Amino acid sequence: MRRAKISVIGAGNVGATCAHWAAAKELGDVVLVDIPDKVGVAQGKALDLACCGPIENFDANIIGTSDYKDVAGSDVVIVTAGLPRKPGMSRDDLIQTNVKIVKSVSEQIATHAPDSVVIVVANPLDAMVYTAWKTTGFPTNRILGQAGCLDVARFCTFIAMEIGCSVEDVTALLLGGHGDDMVPLPRFASVHGIPVNQLLSDETITACVDRAKVGGGEIVKLMGTSAYYAPASGSVQMAEAIIKDKKRILPCAAYCDAEYGVGGYFVGVPCVLGAGGMEQVIEIDLNSDEKVLMDESVSHVKDLVEVVRETFPELV
Ligand code: NAI
Ligand code: 2OP
Repeated sequence: MRRAKISVIGAGNVGATCAHWAAAKELGDVVLVDIPDKVGVAQGKALDLACCGPIENFDANIIGTSDYKDVAGSDVVIVTAGLPRKPGMSRDDLIQTNVKIVKSVSEQIATHAPDSVVIVVANPLDAMVYTAWKTTGFPTNRILGQAGCLDVARFCTFIAMEIGCSVEDVTALLLGGHGDDMVPLPRFASVHGIPVNQLLSDETITACVDRAKVGGGEIVKLMGTSAYYAPASGSVQMAEAIIKDKKRILPCAAYCDAEYGVGGYFVGVPCVLGAGGMEQVIEIDLNSDEKVLMDESVSHVKDLVEVVRETFPELV
């Protein structure tokens, strides 16, 4: 059987950690790509990771490169190339620099891995997914953004910490853009099927919601750069669902037109991930409060995309 191939663009914190999770889960061969100036970093991290194989018991070819010919035949390409934020910066402050990076990377993906499913991670996420879509010209089912898997994981972690239960039993749902106005939906959070409001007070649930919304910022303040273990874990969770055709329902930045009344933007929604990439957006009924929050979050996504369109008319 042919091994799957995962390319990770950007061999920095998130990219190298994606390679780590993908190899440890034995998802396939891994190609770690960075700019020519940093090819040694990509190659060194790839070699270091490959040497974990005998200890962790995985078989995978792992290479570092700056030559996009090496991504040919990739099933999934994860785009982490881009600046991360520093303390005091919002994700949106990265837009001008990261559009240029994601655009140039996407041109290479379109040329060398035209059949791949692309998972964008670079921030501001929702605008970068749009950039990758416009640049590659790929069908919308093969362009996704990672944010929801991370944001939901944070929400579940904080719920489990409050209850003192296993994180394995907590499930939750979250919609909207990857900004501080993301929309966690506590009504849909449960612990082994038990609605979370039967286990925690409203105040504690609200605290968990608020902490999940600014969870990225909390980590930036602590360590001076943005998170990477959980962001990479969320990205590889998506890659695994696609490579193994699992039909998992995961929250991802996916193209929505009629869905949720979004009107043609990539926003965080629950969707089915399988061999076809994003196979279906799941629409759930929102109450009026949730709808207001979703509309606000979507409006923020639209503003960001407008900045991309104004600055880079070729991406309209
Ligand atoms: P990092 O600075 O550690 O790594 C970025 C890497 O991208 C660097 O090695 C850099 O050389 C490389 N790069 C830059 N331009 C490139 C190009 N044209 N081609 C190939 N590689 C290129 O940054 P980190 O922490 O890995 O973050 C990466 C991005 O992911 C940032 O934009 C960050 O904001 C975003 N992020 C998104 C999250 C999400 O949930 N969507 C969560 C965490 C980070
Ligand atoms: C995060 O949420 C910075 O988007 C990144 O950690």
